Amino acid sequence: MAEFKLPPNSIIQSGKTWPVPEGARQIQRFRIYRYNPNGVENPRWDIYQLDTENCGNMVLDALLLIKNEIDPGLTFRRSCREGICGSCAMNIGGTNTLACTRSIDEFGGNEITISPLPHMGVLKDLVPDLTHFYAQHASIKPWIEPKEIPADGREQLQSPEERKRLDGLYECIMCASCSTSCPSYWWNSDKYLGPATLLQGYRWIADSRDGNLKERLDQMDDAFKLYRCHTIMNCTNTCPKGLNPAKAIAEIKKELVRR
Ligand code: SF4
Ligand code: FES
Repeated sequence: MAEFKLPPNSIIQSGKTWPVPEGARQIQRFRIYRYNPNGVENPRWDIYQLDTENCGNMVLDALLLIKNEIDPGLTFRRSCREGICGSCAMNIGGTNTLACTRSIDEFGGNEITISPLPHMGVLKDLVPDLTHFYAQHASIKPWIEPKEIPADGREQLQSPEERKRLDGLYECIMCASCSTSCPSYWWNSDKYLGPATLLQGYRWIADSRDGNLKERLDQMDDAFKLYRCHTIMNCTNTCPKGLNPAKAIAEIKKELVRR
């Protein structure tokens, strides 16, 4: 792996290199983005050196070890540590992914670079500002608007085939890895909904129990909200859950042609 070099005009500065722990036998270096937008300093890269013999297998384990034993000021989100909540999404080794499901071993002992999800405002260190991302998700009404509620209050049934249409959609954990990997979203996120919200949009379009198809498709039929997708495919390549947002976006386009 090539040695990490800051470009000469970079506003991100070299920061502190923390010492190798005493008695360490298996050293793993982590280069981690540090920034406090409320302070006066530019962003910087700090280097942490851990003994992997004292650390769990995942990148999140390393971040927790750094926070608990070296630098309590390091800030990141996490909750489930099982790839379910989506909160530990960050850029690790140049790829948007989940810190709790990316193993340290995958990097073969090379330095691991960790930065926040790209092209979002930074609240602190590895924590991106997802306010706009969540507002976009809310805009597609991510809930069932039933065709009719059974008079006897029974649940609304689906056939196995109807239920199967939701596979590959319901598993999305809204981690934002896909949207923040997408150049169209980088440049037009004020108007383009982005792959995560569009995959979620199709999840409700595809649900046989929903009665709001026309309004949902009307909302999508927009030069920016949907058609800023240029099938670049970064979204599908990066999704840590193995989902295919690009396909979901194509399905919405097909629904709009069919109607
Ligand atoms: S589609 Fe994948 S990458 Fe995108 S938000 Fe859902 S789980 Fe995350
Ligand atoms: S901590 Fe929940 S997905 Fe990583």
